[in-house]
Amino acid sequence: MRVGIIGCGNISDIYAANSKLFRDIDIVACADILPEASGRIAGKFGIEERSVDKLLASEDIDIVLNLTIPSSHAEISRAVLDAGKHVYVEKPLATSLEDGIDLVRRAAAKSLRIGCAPDTILGAGQQTARKIVDEGSAGRVLTGVAAIMSKGMEHWHPNPAFFYQAGGGPVLDIGPYYVSSLCNLLGPVASVYAIGQISPAERRYGAEGPNKGKTFKVETFTTINAILKFESGAIITFIASWDIWRNGMRPIELHGTKASLRVPDPDTFGGDVELSDTTLPLNTHDADAVAAAGQRPDWNPIGTTKLPFGAINYPFGHPTIANYRSLGLAEMANAIANNRPHRCSGEFSLHTLAVMLGILQSADLRREVPISHRADRPEALTPEQASSLRKERP
Ligand SMILES: NC(=O)c1ccc[n+]([C@@H]2O[C@H](COP(=O)([O-])OP(=O)(O)OC[C@H]3O[C@@H](n4cnc5c(N)ncnc54)[C@H](O)[C@@H]3O)[C@@H](O)[C@H]2O)c1
Repeated sequence: MRVGIIGCGNISDIYAANSKLFRDIDIVACADILPEASGRIAGKFGIEERSVDKLLASEDIDIVLNLTIPSSHAEISRAVLDAGKHVYVEKPLATSLEDGIDLVRRAAAKSLRIGCAPDTILGAGQQTARKIVDEGSAGRVLTGVAAIMSKGMEHWHPNPAFFYQAGGGPVLDIGPYYVSSLCNLLGPVASVYAIGQISPAERRYGAEGPNKGKTFKVETFTTINAILKFESGAIITFIASWDIWRNGMRPIELHGTKASLRVPDPDTFGGDVELSDTTLPLNTHDADAVAAAGQRPDWNPIGTTKLPFGAINYPFGHPTIANYRSLGLAEMANAIANNRPHRCSGEFSLHTLAVMLGILQSADLRREVPISHRADRPEALTPEQASSLRKERP
């Protein structure tokens, strides 16, 4: 299917580069309100630059990839659907539940597809964890901890203030990866309870630039401690904080009736999954017990680099990671061609948006909030199905 990008900022490069891996998508044009942004991507990837209006009216575009900023997601996705095209949007689906509901309903009414990031849930790391949960190796998941922990954005981002306004904060910015991962593994969330804090009320621009040393106001929670109650009965503690200097937490640890499971960073497509060794004596922190059991490690790592969309391909930053953004878009194009549901769907992301907004609402109201827009887990993606999305090599 022929794809046009609207929004040619930071994240558009990896989408355009990765699109060449997939058989069902071909990016043919791009647009941005800033001509220099669309010109950069058009030149770098040899695609046609168009105005936003012209791209929306183009007969040769089947799907629009909406990579604008979160506050523009709903407006642009609505315009795409009204122009009679399918849309795939970066996270979050929208910044309000009303907009999210409207988009999902609008797409259904027009028999068009709406898909939404994060597609990391289709990566090798998350799908390996999903397989372990589905096969029952950990038993029924009872509890667990998911942790977003960093010192925020102002030490590296030249213009970080928007991250700290309403619509930003760790829950809405990084939360989509964690909440989508948990819902992909455990199913829908029934209710949430959260407590939040703004700490401190002012932060300081740290990166080089004209604002360095000045302060800006913080208007959204920077630390939230939430409890997610899943329909399955699992109760997960979710900590989302931009107030952390250092930490030793795993991104996600789940504890089932048979074993414990470590899920890799859901902001990447790969990573090792670890399953606890159930043959060891129970108190594995006891050095004597581990020694008696033959010095075996208490966690068995399950590598994913050899699986489709698990190999490290993103050599920027530290550590290097697997980054296959475009996978969800390609899977949606394949689903449209084969007349089957797509996995990173509007309904699924509406549920995760309801969970994230429910967490913020609960922290505001200081009471438990039921989650109204439920969605079942997407189908698992087997390695064979994942491979079949790849363009065949000549
Ligand atoms: N940068 C990242 O590392 C990253 C990672 C994962 C997801 N995302 C998500 O991707 C999206 C884009 O992020 P980014 O970092 O590329 O942002 P960005 O600010 O670098 O780029 C956004 C682009 O969209 C354009 N734009 C904004 N409103 C528009 C409108 N109404 N019409 C046309 N163009 C418009 C802007 O001019 C800009 O070029 C966000 O939803 C973000 O959450 C970003």
